[in-house]
Amino acid sequence: MTSDLHPKRLLGKVVVVTGAASGQGAAEAEALIREGARVIATDVAQAPGCHRLDVTSEKDWSELAAELRESYGQVHGLVNNAGVTWRARIDDVRPEDMARVHAVNVTGPLLGIQHLTPLMCPGTSIVNVGSSAALTAHYPVAYTTSKWALRGLSRTAAMELGPRGIRVNTIHPGFVETDMTASASPAFREANLSETPLGRTGTVDDITPLVVFLLSSDASFITGAEIPVDGGLTAHGGTKSISDALRADA
Ligand code: NAI
Repeated sequence: MTSDLHPKRLLGKVVVVTGAASGQGAAEAEALIREGARVIATDVAQAPGCHRLDVTSEKDWSELAAELRESYGQVHGLVNNAGVTWRARIDDVRPEDMARVHAVNVTGPLLGIQHLTPLMCPGTSIVNVGSSAALTAHYPVAYTTSKWALRGLSRTAAMELGPRGIRVNTIHPGFVETDMTASASPAFREANLSETPLGRTGTVDDITPLVVFLLSSDASFITGAEIPVDGGLTAHGGTKSISDALRADA
């Protein structure tokens, strides 16, 4: 809700969101619009209000940058949210799976940064969407390695773009109820629940306030940071089952 007491935090800001046809990206686009941003929602999938952009395509990024230069002259925010998973384990994953997942989850954000930062001036902000997989040994190895690589990209980008006044931060969602997690087995959901201290899964509305904050001037001295939004999933480093077992034993 916004009012005079709660001024819109992104009034007039031009913000590009990738993977905005569904899930977290769609919710982020809506939340940014509520804060007054002019959102360019993009996705490889067709969706009402979404501009078609495959994050792995240099041509798509270069066309988008040209259109934004023409219509707005500048960009204030980029949310590199598009992502794919592939649930093969280490014995089964194939080089082509690795390449496909890394192309979307790592090269996609890199291309976004390369093509849009020429339009970004001091005070602008990039949010990369990592994962609790980027902080752990999550079993789908193509996905996990891609999200660890995204951490490296984010930190390098924060260092390289800092002198230009462009901030780059990473958020690490835990289990969030979207199409991506709906396609996993029920056992995956149950196991995540038992490892999550807050005892529930996340919703897209748990994620969007952090994205709004990181894009806004409220976060003006935060760059190179990585923030889990995971109900405590990654903070205990696997010790929750030990604590739970001993409590049950007592
Ligand atoms: P989702 O599957 O609902 O959304 C992903 C979106 O990315 C889809 O709309 C899809 O069409 C789009 N996309 C896929 N490949 C693309 C490409 N080449 N170019 C442009 N768009 C493409 O899933 P969700 O959960 O909303 O995922 C958003 C981000 O959050 C992803 O980066 C995902 O890895 C990450 N994440 C999700 C978690 C979850 O529990 N749902 C947990 C941690 C991270």
